[in-house]
Amino acid sequence: MKSILGFMALLLALPALAQAPVGNAQAAKAKTSMCEGCHGIPDYKTAYPHVYHVPMIEGQQAVYIVNALQAYKSGARSHPSMRAIAEGLSDQDMADLAAYYSSLHQ
Ligand code: HEC
Repeated sequence: MKSILGFMALLLALPALAQAPVGNAQAAKAKTSMCEGCHGIPDYKTAYPHVYHVPMIEGQQAVYIVNALQAYKSGARSHPSMRAIAEGLSDQDMADLAAYYSSLHQ
């Protein structure tokens, strides 16, 4: 059931993907060092400026990851540390990181 929903979400996102840069998981490996400090550790919590639970992004859908990063960048999703990080990412960076993290299995 979950995978059917995921597939449908992917189909809905296809027109958007047609214009988006194609993610390259290999290229992302040079970029994940800025994510691993928080996202690499199971059950890790950041302590600044409050204590936050850091969500798992490994195995998450690429479309979801890109959308989340775009939302932090635009301010539609507000979180101080993620916003600061997303502001420094290009569309290509987001596509690469999404390709990488979505390819990992939990
Ligand atoms: C300072 C710690 C920190 C760093 C570094 C960091 N993140 Fe995050 N990230 C978080 C926290 C905390 C959240 C949850 C924020 C919220 O509640 O919206 C989050 C949320 C996310 C989400 C949304 C997850 C979801 O389930 O909705 C994505 C995608 C994400 N981060 C990707 C990245 C990527 C890619 C990088 C590296 C470029 C990165 N993050 C670096 C702490 C961090």
